[in-house]
Amino acid sequence: MPIKLKVNNAAATVDVPPDTPLLWVLRDVLDLKGAKYGCGMGVCGACTVLVGGHAVRSCMTHVGSVEGEAITTIEGLSPDGLHPVQVAWEAIDVPQCGYCQAGQIMSAAALLARTPHPTDADIDTAMSGNVCRCGTYTRIRQAIHEAAEAGTPARSK
Ligand code: FES
Ligand code: FES
Repeated sequence: MPIKLKVNNAAATVDVPPDTPLLWVLRDVLDLKGAKYGCGMGVCGACTVLVGGHAVRSCMTHVGSVEGEAITTIEGLSPDGLHPVQVAWEAIDVPQCGYCQAGQIMSAAALLARTPHPTDADIDTAMSGNVCRCGTYTRIRQAIHEAAEAGTPARSK
């Protein structure tokens, strides 16, 4: 049974079993390679995307459970790469190897959409599920504060 998705504001119909992980569909069916496979167990955050504005682990999300919902990947976070989080990330030169960074940015964007001026504690709580093996956590926190100062668009549904 085809599943109708809304990914980055575009309609997409995929013909996969409903229990297929969303990450598989994004990467292998829709060719959106920004979300990464890390652990496959919901503990690293490399696969983070937004569903209805909330950060979710796409490796643990069955595609059938998000039919019709607004799914946003790093490719669709902004039309021009100028979302305040992306601008701050670039200004502060956050990434090292980069593998975790799409997930980090999506979690940061979700945080700022619901908490426009987060404290360090807010940031640590919101970002605790995103692991960075390169240890970029200090720059991530700095970039989130900078994006907060610049102003982040409110969460879109
Ligand atoms: S790959 Fe999904 S949380 Fe690690
Ligand atoms: S930048 Fe290398 S894992 Fe985070």
